Amino acid sequence: MDNLQDLRKNYEFSYINENQLKDNPLEQFSIWMKEAINSAELEPSAMVLSTVDAQGFPHSRMVLLKDFSESGFVFFSNYESDKAIQMKSNHAVSILFFWQHLERQVRIEGIVEKIAEIESDAYFLSRPIEHKLGTWASAQSKPIPSSTFLEEQFLYFKDKFKHDIPRPPHWGGYSIKPSRFEFWQGRPNRLHDRFVYKLNESDWTIERLAP
Ligand SMILES: Cc1cc2nc3c(=O)[nH]c(=O)nc-3n(C[C@H](O)[C@H](O)[C@H](O)COP(=O)(O)O)c2cc1C
Repeated sequence: MDNLQDLRKNYEFSYINENQLKDNPLEQFSIWMKEAINSAELEPSAMVLSTVDAQGFPHSRMVLLKDFSESGFVFFSNYESDKAIQMKSNHAVSILFFWQHLERQVRIEGIVEKIAEIESDAYFLSRPIEHKLGTWASAQSKPIPSSTFLEEQFLYFKDKFKHDIPRPPHWGGYSIKPSRFEFWQGRPNRLHDRFVYKLNESDWTIERLAP
């Protein structure tokens, strides 16, 4: 694929004004997330979640951010999936957002834990019926014989539960408590802006990094 080498974009949409960076990275993230939601991004809350398995191999996949606050960055998944097994043995994870219309990347690293069951129940309750059934139908990350098998499972649980679908015990939320944030803004001539926030006990230090 020769033409890959010719794909070159000059980033000139914006820049980071150091003096306007928030002292608290959560506030900075909140501003950028709002801007991503109001931009043409298709999935502004989609993030790459990276986990490390017991052998030290990293694994990445997309998940959807469902909430963020001082207590953490929340997403939902299957507690028996590959990622769940990896997070059980290694609580250190990273998440990554790429907002291409804004030419921005945010990297966050931290420690993950399960959220309270009552919070998972509340979010599960708010989901559309089909999504709830999909959660029951899919033994995430396990081999299955066909897509027909999945559809049959879906119909089996539809018939079993009718309209009152409980949260599967093997599905729920995770919350990541960050200790490092990096805000990256593309700039012309590859001289991008990068600012890193690191947690020192209760204070955040900010540094500019070379791109
Ligand atoms: C845009 C997008 C959003 C996704 N959101 C989620 C999610 O919120 N939770 C989830 O478990 N999987 C989500 N997935 C599927 C995961 O990327 C992945 O295929 C699945 O969780 C199994 O990963 P694992 O086998 O590493 O555990 C999403 C995929 C895409 C492309």
